[in-house]
Amino acid sequence: MKKIKLSFLAITALALIGFSCGNNGSASTTQTDSATTNQSQMANDFGEVDGKKITQYTLTNKAGDEVKIINYGGIVTSWITADKSGNRSSVVLGFDNLDSYLTPPPYFGALIGRFGNRIAGGKFKIGDSTYTLAANNGRNHLHGGNKGFDKVVWDVTAAPSAGNPSITLHYLSKDMEEGYPGNLDVTVTYTLTDANELRIVYDATTDKATPVNLTNHSYFNLTGDVANTILAHKLQIAADRYTPVDRGLIPTGELKAVAGTPFDFNGPTAIGARIAQVPGGYDHNYVLNGGKTTALRTVATLSDSVSGRQLEVQTMEPGLQFYSGNFLDGTLKSNSGQAIQKHTGLCLETQHFPDSPNQPSFPNTILQPGQKYHTETVYKVSVVQ
Ligand code: GLA
Repeated sequence: MKKIKLSFLAITALALIGFSCGNNGSASTTQTDSATTNQSQMANDFGEVDGKKITQYTLTNKAGDEVKIINYGGIVTSWITADKSGNRSSVVLGFDNLDSYLTPPPYFGALIGRFGNRIAGGKFKIGDSTYTLAANNGRNHLHGGNKGFDKVVWDVTAAPSAGNPSITLHYLSKDMEEGYPGNLDVTVTYTLTDANELRIVYDATTDKATPVNLTNHSYFNLTGDVANTILAHKLQIAADRYTPVDRGLIPTGELKAVAGTPFDFNGPTAIGARIAQVPGGYDHNYVLNGGKTTALRTVATLSDSVSGRQLEVQTMEPGLQFYSGNFLDGTLKSNSGQAIQKHTGLCLETQHFPDSPNQPSFPNTILQPGQKYHTETVYKVSVVQ
C-alpha cells in the first residue's frame, strides 16, 4: 500500500515537472515577432571553435550604446558610443570576425585567468607543493598560460534579453589545467547600464587552494579610430605607489612612490608627456590607494579632448595594470584594414599585483576551498566636453 502511494506521488511530481517544462517551452515558441527580432539583434552566429558554436551577443542600453561580447574568451569585441559631435564609434580595439581572434591578437577585450599578468619562472608554491606553469612569456608565465581563459569557450548561462542588457558566462577550469591546482568554477557577468557603464562581476570557487586573479584586457582608444595613438589621452590614477619591475616585467617586491617620477598620474597627465622616460613604455602595476575594498571606488580617469569622451574605472581590486600598448607593432589590421600600431590602445587592467603567489608581502591571491572569490569592475564612458 505504502509503495503504491509513493509511486503515485512520484508520477504526480513528474507530471507536474513535465507540465511546467511544457509551459516554458510553449512560452518561448509563442514569442511575439518583435521579441524574436530583438532576440536576433541580441545574438548572432560568430563561427565555431573546438566544435563549439560561438555567438556574438549585443548589449544595448536606452541611450543606444552597444557592447558586443562573444563566448570565446568572453571577449568584448566592440563598445559603440557617441562622441561629442554625435558620431558613433568603438572605444575598444576589436574585430568583427572570429578568425582575427584565433590568430591570436594580444588578449584584445578578453577575460584573463586563471591568473592575470606574470608569475616569475612559471612556478609557485602552496604549502609543500610546487606547481609548474607554462613559460609563455620568456621564462615567465603570463595571463593564465598557453590556453588561458581568453582562449576557451565559455558557457552562456544567461543571455541578454529585451530590457536586460546583461550576459552571464561560466567556465569550469579543471584541476591541473595549465598546471593550476583545483577545479575552479568561474562566473562572469557583464552588464551595460543606461549610464553607459560596463559592469563586470567576477565570482569563483575552488576545491583546492589555487591562485586566482581575474581581469578584462580591453584596449581603449577614446578617439574611436585606431589611426590615432592614445598618447594625447590624459590619464589620472589614484595611486601613490607602483610596483617597479625587472627586465622580464616581474615586480622587484618594492612598492615605490610615484612622486617625482614619470609614473605619477595623480593629476590628469598626457600619456605621451613622459613616456620617453619609461624604457619600453608603461606596463606597470599601480598600488591603488585604499588597497582591496568591498565597495567600488573610482581609481582611474582617462579623457580625450578630440572626441570629448571620458572613461572612468571603478574597482574593488588593489592594483591596476596600466599598459600603453607597447607591443602593438602594425602587424594586426583593423576591420577596415588599418595597421594597429604601437600605442593605439591602452589597457587599465584591474587586478591583484603581478607575481603575487611568489611575493608574500603582496595582497593574497590564494583562494581556499570554501571561500568565495568576488570582485567587480566598472568601466564608464561619457562625453564631458
Ligand atoms: C599585459 C602585460 C603586458 C603585455 C600585455 C599583452 O598588459 O602586462 O606586458 O603582455 O598584457 O600584450
